[in-house]
Amino acid sequence: MRRSKSSKWNNLLSKKDLINKIKEDVLSEIKPSEEDIILVRRIAEDVKERILEKAKDLNLNISVILVGSAARNTWILNGKRRDIDLFILFPTTVDEKFIEEKGIDLIERAMEGWVLEQRYAEHPYVRASIDKEVDGEKMRFDIDIVPCFDVKDPSHIISAVDRTPHHNIYVMKRINGKEGEVILLKKFLELLGIYGSDNKTKGFSGYLCELLIIKYGSFEDLLLDAADWRPPLYIDLEGIGCYDKKDPLVFIDPVDPNRNVAAALSYNNLCIFIDASREFLKNPSKSYFKMREIVVKTYEELKNFFINRETYILAINLRLPDFAEDIIYPQLERSKDGIKRGFEDNAFKILNSYIYYTRNEAIIIFEFEVWKLPKITKHFGPNVFDKDAADRFKEINKDYKIFIKDCRYVVERERKFSSPKDFLEKNILKCALGKDIRHIIEDKEYHLLGIEELLSKNYIRQFLSEIY
Ligand code: UTP
Ligand code: MN
Repeated sequence: MRRSKSSKWNNLLSKKDLINKIKEDVLSEIKPSEEDIILVRRIAEDVKERILEKAKDLNLNISVILVGSAARNTWILNGKRRDIDLFILFPTTVDEKFIEEKGIDLIERAMEGWVLEQRYAEHPYVRASIDKEVDGEKMRFDIDIVPCFDVKDPSHIISAVDRTPHHNIYVMKRINGKEGEVILLKKFLELLGIYGSDNKTKGFSGYLCELLIIKYGSFEDLLLDAADWRPPLYIDLEGIGCYDKKDPLVFIDPVDPNRNVAAALSYNNLCIFIDASREFLKNPSKSYFKMREIVVKTYEELKNFFINRETYILAINLRLPDFAEDIIYPQLERSKDGIKRGFEDNAFKILNSYIYYTRNEAIIIFEFEVWKLPKITKHFGPNVFDKDAADRFKEINKDYKIFIKDCRYVVERERKFSSPKDFLEKNILKCALGKDIRHIIEDKEYHLLGIEELLSKNYIRQFLSEIY
């Protein structure tokens, strides 16, 4: 029988006060202040006015709305940066080409004088940035301005972003008074490294956080339930779902029965959340909301660390042309897995593998459990009864002594690859690689790094210090 919510809480009653105190303290530090909210609103309003005015000049029939966390007061303070999401709604009487061209043109004209960067999701949009003085300090505002279609029914969208205005209506109606709970949840997830639905993070999106709070009512009630989760999980707030893919967590989008809001969440990241929920409830602490201080280890420290582990490190350093992270990161993962399989098919064994990624460079790091192998290995041939194949095998292996073992021909021959480095030098292109990564390797825009070269890079020392 499932325990009811109140009986679950009974065991934790003594901790309720402590949790409330922690929430209050943390929120006083990470919740946007009144001034912050007013300023974000004012900037959003200003941009909206500019776009509406320019649209009038251009005779475009549009509306502009503020969406995302800025509309719902659910953003987490992020140093000296604020993100604002503004959507431009076009009538469905125009086509995609129209909103791509006219939409971007409208934004560029309206936002003259701002720093503009054209970006791509499924469709192009524009990020407009401006620095403002706040309390004597420079604050950067990034406003993502996204053209979309004003669809009446979000289960019949034209482009993927068309649901967003409907999400906004749904959340705005229900989140009042619960903003702090959302902010705590986002921060908790951020520090676990699982906040964000991008292809690299594979975590919880902001919208998913809001829906989870709408479902459970509070941060701690969500954690209390999550502590007992056993995926696959299925949550359908409105009882409308028709989604049959087997994701670890299915959270039916209340505005679109065909969509899982948690589709991007990986199994492993869901497990990280379940475990952290248990640990927090066992031992509630503010530390879950505070960035861990990372002491970057020195070259010597890291070198000794790996010497003491008695493992072997080999890395592939790739130069990346300008790709969107969402495109290239999954390819890096695929390549890493493909190369790992290549190693393991040749009896090398990987203990760990990592991807270091920045816009123009990626380093795939392999830590080996087995990297040194005897010079020879057994090479099995055909079954003795397979006469033609037997002749061919004998011809190919005429320089070796041929044995018969378990009814098969077998020879003891030199291994194809004497070391992981030898394997990569001869065989990297035979591995399963992401398409663009393959081109980079064909073009020789890469080189191999041993442990010394790898650790001589300060950003790699930082990267590894965060892991170990
Ligand atoms: P954002 O990624 O900016 O999220 O997407 P957010 O809710 O504003 O949260 P933060 O505070 O910036 O991190 C803006 C809107 O786009 C839709 C949602 O409607 C979201 O509110 N969206 C975005 C999704 O539905 N799914 C996603 O994976 C990302
Ligand atoms: Mn946002």
